[in-house]
Amino acid sequence: MTTISTTFREQAASLQPQLVAKRRELHRHPELSNEEFETTAKIRSWLTEAGIELLDLKLPTGVLAEVKGAKTGPTILLRADIDALPVNEETGLPFASEIPGKMHACGHDFHTVSMIGAARLLQEQADELSGTVRILFQPAEELAVGARAAIEAGVLEGVTAVFGMHNKPELPVGTVGIRTGPLMASVDRFEIDVFGKGGHAGIPDAAVDPIVVSSALVGALQTLVSRGVSPHHSAVVSVCKLQSGSTWNVIPDSAVLEGTVRTFEPEARRTIPDKMKRLVESVAEGYGAEARLKWTTMLSAVNNDARMAGILREAASAQGLQVVEAVPTMGGEDFALYQERVPGCFVWMGTGGTEQWHHPKFTLNEDALAISAAFFAEAAVQALESLG
Ligand code: NI
Repeated sequence: MTTISTTFREQAASLQPQLVAKRRELHRHPELSNEEFETTAKIRSWLTEAGIELLDLKLPTGVLAEVKGAKTGPTILLRADIDALPVNEETGLPFASEIPGKMHACGHDFHTVSMIGAARLLQEQADELSGTVRILFQPAEELAVGARAAIEAGVLEGVTAVFGMHNKPELPVGTVGIRTGPLMASVDRFEIDVFGKGGHAGIPDAAVDPIVVSSALVGALQTLVSRGVSPHHSAVVSVCKLQSGSTWNVIPDSAVLEGTVRTFEPEARRTIPDKMKRLVESVAEGYGAEARLKWTTMLSAVNNDARMAGILREAASAQGLQVVEAVPTMGGEDFALYQERVPGCFVWMGTGGTEQWHHPKFTLNEDALAISAAFFAEAAVQALESLG
């Protein structure tokens, strides 16, 4: 008996050469966040050619499509991201980026084409589907603004569950990493302005040195984690920018620090801003300076729903993939914003690369294209059946 699972596998294998060609086309022409105009046009035309219905996303870039099953049922969302990075590609591949300074160094071209493959497989089986599969090709993930814009544009209206992935260089092709609970950290941003009093390098007693204050702050901020977060929980405070001064013999009058806080723990996320404010202001005061904290709330943690993770484990097994427990990362993903509103699951798709995300020599094994297309088609079918 031919099951829908084997059909997906066989059809995905026959689509593989086309998927590779499409992925290389996108890879040669990377576009940065919110500038994905050609990418959008290509996705639209590839979906239209396959007879897949496009919806009005109401954003300048990005694409929303839908495969409607013949039978009634819930609506689920599959999400891919489409943007590239300001990285100069150094892979030397024949299909390397043709645009200097821009590269698909995070593999979003892979995500995009995988979901195009899944959409095509689902379209072929539309008669068998009980419900609707909406597919979102989201812009501007790298700036962490695309998901918010897409949600405001209404992509989640009527949606019961959301599924997505990131490629994972450490995992071999044919392996998928799945876990219930937090997978990627919350991401928030801070900026600290330190106000001292400028003066002569040789007469420090007449000045208030903002560089000394800033140095004390860099060390003190680390205690927010070591002394302020339960040893059973994890959080990271990174100061990534520290700017002050203009020459060697003048004490400047101000300094700026910028950084990020990452955690999986909602409680740590809730309490760190107040603790940081108190610390920053009192350390500065101790030195006779003044400091102001500006906190920007960005992304919650990618947090996988147990039931949705279960559906994806089933789908992976049905497609003959090896399922491993996904290892979490302190990187962030705006997929988290969908999961704040509807239950979902985000997975690592094994792509067997040698370099990490965002590296100029980042590569992936294209054999994973057909595999992940079939996996997400299968996941959609199983989700519709399970949630209907
Ligand atoms: Ni990425």
